[in-house]
Amino acid sequence: MSSADRVKWNLDSLRREALKLLKPKRVAHVLGVEEAAVRLARRYGEDEDLAAAAAMLHDCTKRLDKDEQLKLCRDYAIPVDSGELKSPQLLHAKTGAVIAQERFGMPECVCSAIRWHTTGRPNMTRLEKIIYLADMLEPNRDFPGVDELRALAFEDLDAAMAKALESSVKSLRRREMNVYKDTLEAYRWYSRISEQEE
Ligand SMILES: [Fe+2]
Ligand SMILES: [Fe+2]
Repeated sequence: MSSADRVKWNLDSLRREALKLLKPKRVAHVLGVEEAAVRLARRYGEDEDLAAAAAMLHDCTKRLDKDEQLKLCRDYAIPVDSGELKSPQLLHAKTGAVIAQERFGMPECVCSAIRWHTTGRPNMTRLEKIIYLADMLEPNRDFPGVDELRALAFEDLDAAMAKALESSVKSLRRREMNVYKDTLEAYRWYSRISEQEE
């Protein structure tokens, strides 16, 4: 078996295992994120297999409820702050990263892409940005401005991050939901960068 075959086999088997962890309604989304992440990785010279693996696992704990999330946080000594207690759906990024590492043996770069896929953060790695954006613009997503975001993501990753974070902050504010501090910091960071580039 060539090494390309081995990677292919590993990715196929990882995909099978990852999909088993999802609610059936989330399968199309995760496959869409994989497709978008691989295309972005190819565009920016990132490792396509790492992007595929991070995409497959990015929502691997999403089906767990708040108590199960908190139990995982206790089991793995993951710190939980008051913002996350108010918005427990944020926790799947942290618990997903730990499961990717502990159960699937994923490297640090894949785990950190999972860790930051929900909120973003300042100064993200290229793979973190690719997974954040792929999650938002995968083919099943439909919201005002998604086509512009898709086009921008293939032109300029940082400008696309600024746009994506802006739309996520605005949508949270419109729904009178809490904007988590990491999201705000990421939004400020990427808005500043794209202003400087203009
Ligand atoms: Fe997610
Ligand atoms: Fe997702």
